[in-house]
Amino acid sequence: MCGIVGYIGFREAYPILIKGLRRLEYRGYDSAGVAIINNENQLSVYKAKGKVADLEEYSKDKDISGTIGIAHTRWATHGEPSNANAHPHYSQSENLALIHNGIIENYAVLKAELLKNGYTFQSSTDTEVLVQWIDYIYNIHKCDLFHAVQIALNQVVGAYAIAVIEKGNPDQIIAARKSSPLVVGVGENEYFLASDASPIIEYTNKVIYLDDEEIAVINRHEDPKIYTISNIKKTPEIKELEMNLSQLERGGYDHFMLKEIFEQPETLKNCMSGRVNIEGTNVTLSGIIDHKEKFINARRILIIACGTSWHAGLIGEYLFEEFCRIPVEVEYASEFRYRNPVICADDIVIAISQSGETADSLAAIELARKAGAFVYGVCNVVGSSIPRNTDSGSYTHCGPEIGVASTKAFTAQVTVLTMMALAIAKEKGTMPEENYLCTIKELQNIPSKIEKILSQNDKIKELSLIFTYAQNFIYLGRGYSYPVALEGALKLKEISYIHAEGYPAAEMKHGPIALIDNEMPIVAIATHNTIYEKVVSNIQEIKARNGRVIAIINEGDESIKELADHYIEIPETKECLDPLLSSIPLQLLAYHIAVNKNRDVDMPRNLAKSVTVE
Ligand code: M6R
Repeated sequence: MCGIVGYIGFREAYPILIKGLRRLEYRGYDSAGVAIINNENQLSVYKAKGKVADLEEYSKDKDISGTIGIAHTRWATHGEPSNANAHPHYSQSENLALIHNGIIENYAVLKAELLKNGYTFQSSTDTEVLVQWIDYIYNIHKCDLFHAVQIALNQVVGAYAIAVIEKGNPDQIIAARKSSPLVVGVGENEYFLASDASPIIEYTNKVIYLDDEEIAVINRHEDPKIYTISNIKKTPEIKELEMNLSQLERGGYDHFMLKEIFEQPETLKNCMSGRVNIEGTNVTLSGIIDHKEKFINARRILIIACGTSWHAGLIGEYLFEEFCRIPVEVEYASEFRYRNPVICADDIVIAISQSGETADSLAAIELARKAGAFVYGVCNVVGSSIPRNTDSGSYTHCGPEIGVASTKAFTAQVTVLTMMALAIAKEKGTMPEENYLCTIKELQNIPSKIEKILSQNDKIKELSLIFTYAQNFIYLGRGYSYPVALEGALKLKEISYIHAEGYPAAEMKHGPIALIDNEMPIVAIATHNTIYEKVVSNIQEIKARNGRVIAIINEGDESIKELADHYIEIPETKECLDPLLSSIPLQLLAYHIAVNKNRDVDMPRNLAKSVTVE
């Protein structure tokens, strides 16, 4: 949520900042802005409502020279998207410019104090309050910028990643974070700042991840210095990035989402690589091996996540209960953190997150750790906050996911959860050897089976045309396919803005069946599993009420072909691995419907990729 970029060095800052904003635009895209100090030490702020392209248009006849600057792309929290509410915000004196990701919760109290002291405001944002507060401290304490920021942050309640620059001081950026990510890129005589590493990788692979309540003092001619807000000096730990630039480009696809859907055969191979042995007879996850006893003795597994990651967690519930015979509860992190849950020391808490930065998931982890539970992270973004705040974990290794709608991260999460369940079951002896071996073997076949589904892209695109103008959709599935139905509905609603609901198929009779008429498309996942016959009965009930059924079936299922209005065939697999296949046509269907409707697929309205505020 909100993207931050900063640069100080020997190159012109503006092109670097704009390129960085484009890379971060997936984090928020309702307005954008830059602040630059030129060679005469003048500080200028340019900002525009809309996308980064609108900012570029606005700035094209302005003075954008200078080798130091900060920039921001916004996802509105306080105040509507507008030029005034866009960042950077000036202090009243226009001596300081600040960008911010997060929420200042006590902004109203600070603002009242500032108003009493003669400050006026141009925007409705909490961020403007923060920059004015820093300016106020700067003036009353007669200190330098670093100390003003440090004092101010001790008085602030909330979450922040900030960067501040000062008129007349072209050699310094001050940056700080608490509960919102911030990375410092360390180049040769130049430094970068960003919400994640994607704007940095082009210039350097050396980064410093700031921790909560740390302030970075980035001076043009010195190594970065890190202090805590309570003034403890820290030794910066420089890490090497493993990302490469091509992962951040669309690579010939019309959208990142389509590219990411098509990457899945490869991303799942990467996810399994080094974990499933070459012979396909064993699964090893170092995060589990190192804490084997904890998993063997776990009384319960609690899975916490949000959105798509929560759907992956629901599949995890089926997997852990079936393979490991450990009771599982799956919780929305946002509910878990506020409902005084019972957490025991012999619980294992698994936090699932693509970004590793989701505010609710981070808060739920903190709560679980305080209660003494062992917390395991399943994350995609290396070095993000969740992996750094958990006891152990596994990365999903599917590379940067840029499209706001999660696709490849979902299947990689499910793959990691499958490998976890297999590894724990082996340790506990809860899975017959034969089943263990054939599940691993079949897991290795999944990437080629996904290829086969992807080859039907044109057919799915054609099918999508029939449903472009539907107002509502229902998705149905049972057992392992129930979370897939939820995920299919979420994909459709977030990128096409069509109302869609997912249900366990048997729940139809308890209410939703009232919605069915000849205008209602129903996507039914009806692959061969233990309750296949029951799903067939559910489809019959829908057809008896004139509903229009799109069935996801196994290849050659002639009886459902006759029953359904439309069908998409997918290869047969083991029931427990079915979500890895059945989710693919649903991703493609949602994608094509959204494209037909001319939606901004990669940046759907009101959404942001990384939800760093609650
Ligand atoms: O980064 P996380 O996996 O923690 O994000 C959780 C949700 O915000 C995310 O899955 C969201 O629902 C996606 N837009 C779904 O496509």
